[in-house]
Amino acid sequence: MKFHRLSVLSALTALTPLTFTNAEPRPQGPVPFGSTPSSYNQTGPGNSTSNSTYLQIPAVVTDSDGNSQFQCWQLNSPFTSTPFGSNGSQLGFGDVSGASITVQPPDSNTGVHTTSMPALLHVLSGLLSITLPNNSTSTAWVLGGVSGSLILADTTGSGHNTSHPSDESTVIITMPFAGAVIPAHTIVGYDVCSTNLGALGQAT
Ligand SMILES: *[C@@H]1O[C@H](CO)[C@@H](O)[C@H](O)[C@H]1NC(C)=O
Ligand SMILES: *[C@@H]1O[C@H](CO)[C@@H](O)[C@H](O)[C@H]1NC(C)=O
Ligand SMILES: *[C@@H]1O[C@H](CO)[C@@H](O)[C@H](O)[C@H]1NC(C)=O
Ligand SMILES: *[C@@H]1O[C@H](CO)[C@@H](O)[C@H](O)[C@H]1NC(C)=O
Ligand SMILES: *[C@@H]1O[C@H](CO)[C@@H](O)[C@H](O)[C@H]1NC(C)=O
Ligand SMILES: *[C@@H]1O[C@H](CO)[C@@H](O)[C@H](O)[C@H]1NC(C)=O
Ligand SMILES: *[C@@H]1O[C@H](CO)[C@@H](O)[C@H](O)[C@H]1NC(C)=O
Repeated sequence: MKFHRLSVLSALTALTPLTFTNAEPRPQGPVPFGSTPSSYNQTGPGNSTSNSTYLQIPAVVTDSDGNSQFQCWQLNSPFTSTPFGSNGSQLGFGDVSGASITVQPPDSNTGVHTTSMPALLHVLSGLLSITLPNNSTSTAWVLGGVSGSLILADTTGSGHNTSHPSDESTVIITMPFAGAVIPAHTIVGYDVCSTNLGALGQAT
């Protein structure tokens, strides 16, 4: 089954209302649909530690039984203001090593595998769908675009199955964390993040 980008966008929108907790400054300029604000928990200005903006990002990890599991992480470091005087905000992910770009053809899949190194991935285009062979409750849908970030950290165990069920190529930048050092985070849920339009959990 191949999905067209627009039909995916409308399906995701129907499932997840866009809600923001306040009207703090957001990235300026044209914001494509399904874009930045939905990825972030907008609790306040990015430059105030007492009222900060945190990133929530879906992660795939190995649980204590050796099965891959979806989690929703909130990174412990908040966004801070950029040094450019533009009211922009920024967040570091730490050091990465051996970054690469992958182009997967339309309607392809990789089969079940573990992650070789814990990594930050960003899907630029297409659609990434992740299922867990040991748990069919949820499917992670990561649509290419600004909400396309996720972390893969299931380096051992039963692994995950990745498919690219889009009618366009799925282009992914993979940035392994240097020394396998994963950014400090808090687990806010044992499923994919519901606040990220590009990667919402879909109960089946
Ligand atoms: C945002 O994060 C704050 C602090 O962690 C939490 O209390 C609040 O419920 C979150 N809001 C949403 C919409 O996720
Ligand atoms: C946090 O944000 C709220 C809503 O924008 C604002 O009313 C409040 O003054 C802020 N608090 C601090 C400490 O900046
Ligand atoms: C925080 O951002 C506001 C605008 O959003 C700006 O007026 C203020 O100077 C910034 N404060 C710091 C400490 O960067
Ligand atoms: C930053 O935000 C403040 C307050 O909204 C605004 O007055 C200022 O022009 C902004 N600076 C830039 C460079 O956009
Ligand atoms: C992986 O996912 C694809 C697409 O849903 C499916 O066709 C394939 O059978 C799955 N592979 C395994 C081993 O589950
Ligand atoms: C999940 O994994 C456990 C072993 O860790 C296995 O006993 C169980 O059958 C698996 N369940 C499914 C639905 O694959
Ligand atoms: C299966 O996945 C769901 C949602 O991702 C989760 O709530 C549940 O705890 C998982 N089941 C097991 C046995 O890990």
